[in-house]
Amino acid sequence: MKRLGIVWVLAALVELSCQTALSADDCTITEFSQVQSVTENCKDIVIQDLHVPGGQTLNLLLSKETTVVVKGNITFGYFVWNGPLVQINGTNFTIRGEPGHVWDGQGQSYWDGQGEWGSTKPLLFNVMADGVSLFEDFNVLNTPRHTLILSDSDRVTFSNWLIDDSAGDENVAPPNRFAHNTDGFALWNSTNIVVKDSKVLNQDDCVAIRCGSNYVVDNVHCVGSHGLSISVGFSNDSVKLNTLTNVVISNSVLEFGENGIHVKTHVDGGEGLINNVTYENIRLSGPINYGINIQQNYRNLPANTPMDPTPKGNIPITNLRLLNVVGSVDDSAVPVYINCAEGACSDWVFDNVSVSGSKVNDCNFSPEGFECD
Ligand SMILES: *[C@@H]1O[C@H](CO)[C@@H](O)[C@H](O)[C@H]1NC(C)=O
Ligand SMILES: *[C@@H]1O[C@H](CO)[C@@H](O)[C@H](O)[C@H]1NC(C)=O
Ligand SMILES: *[C@@H]1O[C@H](CO)[C@@H](O)[C@H](O)[C@H]1NC(C)=O
Ligand SMILES: *[C@@H]1O[C@H](CO)[C@@H](O)[C@H](O)[C@H]1NC(C)=O
Ligand SMILES: *[C@@H]1O[C@H](CO)[C@@H](O)[C@H](O)[C@H]1NC(C)=O
Ligand SMILES: *[C@@H]1O[C@H](CO)[C@@H](O)[C@H](O)[C@H]1NC(C)=O
Ligand SMILES: *[C@@H]1O[C@H](CO)[C@@H](O)[C@H](O)[C@H]1NC(C)=O
Repeated sequence: MKRLGIVWVLAALVELSCQTALSADDCTITEFSQVQSVTENCKDIVIQDLHVPGGQTLNLLLSKETTVVVKGNITFGYFVWNGPLVQINGTNFTIRGEPGHVWDGQGQSYWDGQGEWGSTKPLLFNVMADGVSLFEDFNVLNTPRHTLILSDSDRVTFSNWLIDDSAGDENVAPPNRFAHNTDGFALWNSTNIVVKDSKVLNQDDCVAIRCGSNYVVDNVHCVGSHGLSISVGFSNDSVKLNTLTNVVISNSVLEFGENGIHVKTHVDGGEGLINNVTYENIRLSGPINYGINIQQNYRNLPANTPMDPTPKGNIPITNLRLLNVVGSVDDSAVPVYINCAEGACSDWVFDNVSVSGSKVNDCNFSPEGFECD
């Protein structure tokens, strides 16, 4: 009897200590040293006013079905490196920002007007996720270069993000501190991905889809960007990494920036395909380079380097639809530019596509439903 009593007491103690281990306080990260044990032991995590030391990654390797809530100001020490500042991996998790929180990337410390071509700058978020995962209500400020790279993922939704790199529009002192290559959402080799109800103020692609299938971009507001972009052909040898299919980009608005709609295939990549892409209900105003730019002559070059206009058919573009795309461009911009390689563009339909500007359109291929001149 006595022995049983001791066992009971021990069991109660064990239970008590387990409860303590999983209490809200112990699952709150306020110091970098807590990250590993909290992510290993908790499924309801709070990250609050965390400072991540320079040169370190905030590694959120989440166990299945974890919920993370982000509060306060998350900051990162300055360090010259590629990052990522935050790595998030997991299955079937939710990560959500509380009102008033911010991921402050402190880009002003890095910006030199040259983006990836200048000094080394860290990526902010690198993500690999599956099993139905959700990133919602994120406030992101001043990213040094790309905000987010998603790769090798399935069933991930990004909802209600605000990415504000507008401070990088200014030449903040000391001189030449413009931001560049601050892409918003860069999406690679993934399936069933949604980006919705978000606003991006930046100095490169607002959304850039590179390869994979079943992407939806809906209700995104882009300010100052290089466009709602599709950019395919980064690999020399993988047809899979050069293939993008089934994309819908809808109900979105672009203001200022360089381009509105931008579809580009890389002449220096291998073989691939872009098939079944729809842009629908898009409004654009004031881009300075192009309203709609669909080009098979793309090369990634430093800002303001002229591009060889000769297109290449290594990545055909088939079944492309533009429906209800209207707006106007800056006087410096070409409203509609289409540069296809011989035979490498087919089955395109434009319906209610109307972009005005003072320069003439420039197309070597005519989509059904659209007169270029
Ligand atoms: C976050 O904290 C850093 C460091 O204290 C500060 O410089 C920055 O202004 C804060 N960001 C916001 C958005 O409050
Ligand atoms: C986390 O994801 C990255 C890609 O974002 C990948 O390179 C890395 O191997 C993953 N780490 C783990 C522990 O799964
Ligand atoms: C994801 O988690 C939910 C519960 O949070 C569960 O109902 C669902 O089956 C899980 N899905 C997958 C694919 O693991
Ligand atoms: C693409 O992602 C899948 C996971 O969804 C992975 O298995 C595969 O290795 C990736 N392919 C390449 C070429 O990286
Ligand atoms: C592709 O090949 C070219 C020329 O061989 C090389 O310069 C380039 O770096 C390669 N690109 C990749 C992504 O491997
Ligand atoms: C084209 O893409 C849409 C949206 O992703 C999808 O519903 C449709 O089935 C695809 N069409 C074909 C022929 O694959
Ligand atoms: C043309 O597209 C614009 C922008 O999406 C939309 O507001 C307008 O109603 C469309 N017009 C027709 C005739 O469908």
